[in-house]
Parts: sequence; C-alpha cells; structure tokens
Amino acid sequence: MTDIKELLLSRIRDVADYPEPGVMFKDITPLLADPAAFTALTDALAGIAERTGATKVVGLEARGFILAAPVAVRAGLGFIPVRKAGKLPGATLSQAYDLEYGSAEIEVHAEDLCGDDRVLVIDDVLATGGTAEASLQLIRRAGAEVAGLAVLMELGFLGGRARLEPALAGAPLEAL
Ligand code: PRP
Repeated sequence: MTDIKELLLSRIRDVADYPEPGVMFKDITPLLADPAAFTALTDALAGIAERTGATKVVGLEARGFILAAPVAVRAGLGFIPVRKAGKLPGATLSQAYDLEYGSAEIEVHAEDLCGDDRVLVIDDVLATGGTAEASLQLIRRAGAEVAGLAVLMELGFLGGRARLEPALAGAPLEAL
C-alpha cells in the first residue's frame, strides 16, 4: 500500500449500524481533523485536477464540498457546488435520480458552467454511483465537458464504477 493510501485509510473511521442497522458508515471527520492527512488528500486531488486538465471543480453536497473547495483553491480553479434540490437561489439545471426507495434531485446554477469548461467532480464516497451519475449528466446538459470523477473512497461491492461507464464516456474515475 502506498504511504498516502495508508495515511488516508488510517484516518477513516468505520461506524457500525449508522445511519441504520446493517450499514457500516465511513466517517471522514478524523481525516478532516488531521491537517497532514487533509493536506495530503487535497494535494492528491489537486494533482488529479491538473492531470485531467480541469478548468473547474464541482463538489457534491455535502461532504464533497469539504473536499473540493480546498482543491479548487490549491489548483487555482473555480469551485461549483452541486446541491440537493431547492438550495440554490438562481436559475438551475436539475437532475433526478433513483434511490433504493424513492428518488432524489440535485441542481447546479446554469450560469456556473459553460461550453469551454472541463469539469472534475469530487466527492467523498462512490457507493451505487447514482449521485455521481446525475452530476455528470448535469455537467453535460450545461454544455461543459467532464474531465473526470475523483473520490476518496469507492465501495466497490456496490457496482458504482460499472454504472458510471456510460456517463463518464472515457473520462477517468480515480478513487484514492
Ligand atoms: C453520500 C456520499 C455521496 C453519495 C454516494 O452522500 O457523500 O455523495 O452518498 O452515494 P451513491 O453513490 O449511492 O449515490 P449523502 O447523500 O449521504 O449526502 P451528505 O454528504 O449530505 O451526507
């Protein structure tokens, strides 16, 4: 295992039966509280932004905001929030997606993305891939290009990577 992977893993806390019985929650607050680990994560994600030629960084509410904002600053790129429905005041593009029970919707300010943009999406966890897939669809609908998707953790057993193949259309998915 690489040093950074070991460091990041050592700062993620498994919480059993949260938020409901049978779920093992991956708590990133110890990582955020450790400046060395948070800086290493930010540097690694900023390196991905650079390698993929991103011109903007999208963070997915809510934990994606915490990871993506310092990456945008470090890489000298704009930060764009993709929020849960009803939280953005301006003209938005919305994308609905299915959850295990019911559906959810995310939004972005339409004016934040344009045809010249290459966008790196950042989030903490890739699980089923529903949230990330909807965000990639939003970016394309805004006329921008997808530079890639970068996550701290990928829960491989949930099949998110395979689900995202069409939406990524060859853009890289990097899981640290
Ligand atoms: C979690 C996580 C990802 C998403 C992954 O967010 O931060 O955004 O779920 O799941 P998926 O791959 O199955 O779509 P959550 O909706 O719990 O929001 P939060 O960050 O606001 O807690």
